[in-house]
Amino acid sequence: MRVAVYPGSFDPITMGHVDVLRRALGVFDRVVVAVLVNPKKVPMLDIDARVAAIRSGVGEVLPGLAERVDVRPFAGLTVDACRQTDARFIVRGLRAVSDFEAELQMAHMNHRLAPEIDTVFFMTALEYSYLSSSLVREIVRFGGDPSAMVPPSVAERLSAAAAAESVAGRVR
Ligand code: PNS
Repeated sequence: MRVAVYPGSFDPITMGHVDVLRRALGVFDRVVVAVLVNPKKVPMLDIDARVAAIRSGVGEVLPGLAERVDVRPFAGLTVDACRQTDARFIVRGLRAVSDFEAELQMAHMNHRLAPEIDTVFFMTALEYSYLSSSLVREIVRFGGDPSAMVPPSVAERLSAAAAAESVAGRVR
């Protein structure tokens, strides 16, 4: 069985991420979406919300494929997440040439740490090449509509998170 880990912050998962996941499921039997717990960053969606958003979003946008997707939080090294799940491949998406340099560095470093693991890149569809989690967060925080950019249930979660942030901001 060919297993791959698709690591990322996914704050939030976007339609671009889902597009990469769909392509990866065309090649691998199982894809583990490994959601990074980064203690140095305060995410818009906490780790439980990100995991839940990915599960519901994948179910909505990729029905019929979702049973081959595992979503789990991880802290630490991506290569350790691979070893824990018997994955020999890391999946990453490339939107543009500008992504390539950092991705190449990570792929080489991960290969250095774990020579048995290879990184496989999928090109994100052109229509999502402008999309990033950070832009989606900004749009939602300023009251914009993210519904074309993320799965429906993720848009709902983001609106709730933005409302909670603005209440907290008013209290501060
Ligand atoms: O979605 P992102 O934020 O671009 O994902 C970055 C991620 C999570 C893939 C990267 O930061 C990562 O792999 N972090 C885990 C720590 C690690 O393995 N570092 C060495 C990578 S070379």
